[in-house]
Amino acid sequence: MSGLPILVTGATGRLGRLIVERLTATGQPVRVFTRRPDAARKLFGSAVEIAAGDYADGASLAAACGGIGHLLLLSPISAALAVDQIAVADAAVAAGIRRIVKISGSNWTIEPPGNSISGDAHAAVEHHLGTLSIEHVSLRPNAWMQVSLANTIAQALAGHPVLEINPDAGIGYIDARDIAGVAVHQLLAGEVAGKTLNLTGPQVVTPRQVAALLSTALRRPVAIGERASAAAAPDADVEHRAVAQFATLIAAGRAATTTDAVAALLGRAPRGVEAFISEYLAAEAALAGQDP
Ligand SMILES: NC(=O)c1ccc[n+]([C@@H]2O[C@H](COP(=O)([O-])OP(=O)(O)OC[C@H]3O[C@@H](n4cnc5c(N)ncnc54)[C@H](OP(=O)(O)O)[C@@H]3O)[C@@H](O)[C@H]2O)c1
Repeated sequence: MSGLPILVTGATGRLGRLIVERLTATGQPVRVFTRRPDAARKLFGSAVEIAAGDYADGASLAAACGGIGHLLLLSPISAALAVDQIAVADAAVAAGIRRIVKISGSNWTIEPPGNSISGDAHAAVEHHLGTLSIEHVSLRPNAWMQVSLANTIAQALAGHPVLEINPDAGIGYIDARDIAGVAVHQLLAGEVAGKTLNLTGPQVVTPRQVAALLSTALRRPVAIGERASAAAAPDADVEHRAVAQFATLIAAGRAATTTDAVAALLGRAPRGVEAFISEYLAAEAALAGQDP
C-alpha cells in the first residue's frame, strides 16, 4: 500500500463504519465521503479526513478522489445504485486511483441474472469495473447476520414466532465484521485475490434451526411457522421490491451456500450464527441490566 489515503464511500452506514474503524486501527490514512459531515465527525472523530459530497454531484466526487490510493465502493440499494457507483468509479479512474474494492450484492442475487433488481444493478457495476484499466475486486457477501438474523432475534425477544416463507431453506449468513475484515484485507493487500469473491459464514442454518438455537438461549420455546410469500406492491420503491425478491430467492434455497473465502483470506474461521446470537442476547441483557 502506498501510504496514500483510502477513500471510503458509504462510510457512515452499517458496513462502512466497520470498515473505517478497522482501517484507522491499522494507522492507514482514511478519507470518508458523506452527505453528512457532522454525523461522520461524530462517528469517527479526528481519525479520518472528511470529504462532503453526494454521488450525484460530480464535482464533489472529483474533489474527494484527489490524492487517493485505493477506493472502497459502497452505496445502498436504490434506483440509482448503478448510476451512482459507476459515477464514483469513473471519478476514481480520472483521479488516478489504483484499486477499487466494491461491496457488491450476494452471489445468488447476481447469478443467474434477471431474478433481482439489486443484483442486476450490482452486476452492471461489476461489468463496468471490468471495462476500466484499474485493479478491482467485487465482494459478494451472503445475507448479513446484522440485518436479517438480527431482525429474527429481535422478533423472538419481543415474544413473536419466527415466520418464514420456507422454514427449512437455509442461509449461509455472514457476520458483517467478517465482510469488513475482508474488505480491509483487499484494500491493503499487495494485490487483490480475484475479480469476485463470494463471502459467507461457516455454516448454513435454516430458520427452524435458528428458532431452536433461540429457544435454548432464551430458555423458553420460540415457535417457528410459515408465512405467505408476499410480492411487493406494484408501486413499491426499489428497496422494497428488492427485499421481496430476496425472500423468494432465499425460500428457494439460493442462499444456502458456504465458501472458504473468509478463512482463506483472514486465516481464521468466519464468525458463526450461534456466537452471533449469544453476543446479541448478552448485549441486550446488558442494556436491560439483566443476566442473558
Ligand atoms: N444487508 C445484506 O444482507 C446485504 C447483502 C449483500 C450485499 N449488500 C449490499 O450492501 C450495501 C448496503 O450497505 P449498508 O447496509 O452498510 O448501507 P447503509 O447502512 O444503508 O448505508 C448507506 C451509506 O451510503 C451513503 N449514501 C447514500 N446515498 C448517498 C449519496 N447520494 N451520496 C453519498 N453517500 C450516500 C450514506 O452516507 P451518508 O448518509 O453519510 O451520506 C451511508 O453511509 C448495498 O449495496 C447492498 O446491496 C447487503
